[in-house]
Amino acid sequence: MTKFKRNLITTALPYANGPVHIGHLAGVYVPADIYVRYLRQKGEEVVFIGGSDEHGVPITIKAQKEGVTPQDIVDRYHRIIKDSFEEFGISFDIYSRTSSRTHHELSSAFFKKLYDEGKFIEKTSMQFYDEQAGQFLADRYIVGKCPHCGNERAYGDQCEACGTSLNATDLIDPVSAITGNKPELKETKHWYLPLDKYESWLKEWILEEHKEWKPNVYGQCKSWLDNGLQPRAVTRDLDWGVPVPLEEAKGKVLYVWFDAPIGYISATKVLTPEWEKYWKDPETRMIHFIGKDNIVFHCIIFPAMLKAEGSYILPDNVPANEFLNLEGDKISTSRNWAVWLHEYLRDFEGKQDVLRYVLTANAPETKDNDFTWKDFQARNNNELVAIYGNFINRALVLTQKYFGGIVPERGELTDYDREVLAEIPQIIEKVEKNLDSFHFRDALKECMNLARLGNKYLADTEPWKLIKTDEGRVKTILNICLQLAADLSTLTEPFIPFSAVKLRGFLNIEPVKWERMGDEVVSAGHQLGVPGLLFGKIEDEEIQKQVDKLLATKKENEMANAQVSAAKPNIAFDDFAKMDIRAGKIVAAEKVAKTKKLMKLTVDTGIDVRTVVSGIAEYYAPEEVVGQQVSILVNLEPKLLKGIESQGMILMAENADGSLAFVRPDKEVKAGSEIR
Ligand code: MF3
Ligand code: ZN
Repeated sequence: MTKFKRNLITTALPYANGPVHIGHLAGVYVPADIYVRYLRQKGEEVVFIGGSDEHGVPITIKAQKEGVTPQDIVDRYHRIIKDSFEEFGISFDIYSRTSSRTHHELSSAFFKKLYDEGKFIEKTSMQFYDEQAGQFLADRYIVGKCPHCGNERAYGDQCEACGTSLNATDLIDPVSAITGNKPELKETKHWYLPLDKYESWLKEWILEEHKEWKPNVYGQCKSWLDNGLQPRAVTRDLDWGVPVPLEEAKGKVLYVWFDAPIGYISATKVLTPEWEKYWKDPETRMIHFIGKDNIVFHCIIFPAMLKAEGSYILPDNVPANEFLNLEGDKISTSRNWAVWLHEYLRDFEGKQDVLRYVLTANAPETKDNDFTWKDFQARNNNELVAIYGNFINRALVLTQKYFGGIVPERGELTDYDREVLAEIPQIIEKVEKNLDSFHFRDALKECMNLARLGNKYLADTEPWKLIKTDEGRVKTILNICLQLAADLSTLTEPFIPFSAVKLRGFLNIEPVKWERMGDEVVSAGHQLGVPGLLFGKIEDEEIQKQVDKLLATKKENEMANAQVSAAKPNIAFDDFAKMDIRAGKIVAAEKVAKTKKLMKLTVDTGIDVRTVVSGIAEYYAPEEVVGQQVSILVNLEPKLLKGIESQGMILMAENADGSLAFVRPDKEVKAGSEIR
């Protein structure tokens, strides 16, 4: 790290077409924030860049659906996303946006420079065109049948049912998502970055010079490079985006993946007039924090763009993470399968650090990982509360009780004291090593080991027993505990910054410099603050509420996706008229013994009062059906069921999940009324 003077840390710019969720935090923003806070604590110069990615087709589709402008959409979500990040303590120096004027100017100029220097190739190709809408159709605007799985609603770029990426021309019977018409193929011209020309340079730069990149990142790059690179279109036929700055390119914009990474540069420019020192001085170390779906753009395409431009530095590392799943399923905005940050903040007020902690402890650093509410609760209760919080609380409360909250003096140290003190720098070193190599989970584990060390020290030395016989010894023990507490506030600050501040409040100290950890930073005689609880237990009910919410979402999705059965062949009216269906009223009900499904109903049909055995017992309790009006087929041949003669059939609707619902007149009618 010594050869660099300053750090430029970027985080993937989230699309401003929806709020952000735990997957975003876990994969990108929490690790980046940990890293940045760590660098700052060590006194390094850092700029930390974030912003919204406000172009791209999904934004225009959402706008069209809602009947508003794309700008309305991005204004709405930019706000929500920015607020969420702020609330979670993601300490950006700037959170910018790609609809800003600076961004439009800079990305436009970037394109123009490459164009003027002949760095692009021009190609015409056939693209789907919607005559009625008068526009070319982006891949997302074309729907049709997936050639792989038969899903009827596959998009022109991807089938969401089977996950295959597609070309719009692969779709069977494609239609325009705007008008529903069959689109025509029409010729259009675009500009391409000839990635093939950068291939050998990229191979050298990544595969030879950056062998230290994470295996998941290096591996993905290698596979792209081994497969050979093709020219990539950097323009699109679309009216939302940065206009292509060429006379002949009316109605075309820069491809969102061309302008978005330039957003890092424009954000820096919005932040400071000295932006060029961050982007053009080789003594700046640039690091991109991203998710795995962004690897090719940050390791291959954007570097090729920067190389083509010629005046910018390249990333030193791209520590991409894998994905976080939620309760065993892929997080999905369209299926609402997510824990949204703004909702978490509402449900778990003031518990930002708990989520930061859990997402780091369980970060998808080397493989996809699963977030479960049970694990969230367990890590809070068994780790934050039982280990960290417990140690801090005991150290503070004992000092309060025995010494009025004044830091006691250290006496002569025992061998054991020395051993414990000697472990501190070792733990710090492990935390640093892990942070330097982007192993945030392991770094956090080591932090917790410092709290564990404190707990063990207290349990072993038992100052609450010694206080009667050896006050001097107790003074030493608590002094050491308070140093440990102060070190913890420094060491854990990158991970759980809100709690670090709180802890310093309890200790009544200012932030401690990173290098001063391990020293006696709280001196004897110092008056501590008012002790409080660092973390609170999370109860089963709170967790159950979250689990129930997800179960409800799952059910909704199942309903939405359920297939209805195929239509039966036509019948003659006379066949229908043979059925004698009446409105009846249930007057008594009881479960049929030894069965799960059957209920014996006594029904007033208006004609008579009779017994019907019905398979509703899993969905209704006897007491809730008594008095209900129902539809009953009265001329069905009687049938013996479990020894009971069933005289007729109650009509039920079978829901997508197999559950049953009564079919009944929507106003009460006289029993015996015919239904036809
Ligand atoms: N919006 C993209 C995504 O969410 C990320 C863009 S990163 C940038 O996948 F480099 F292009 F800005
Ligand atoms: Zn498919």
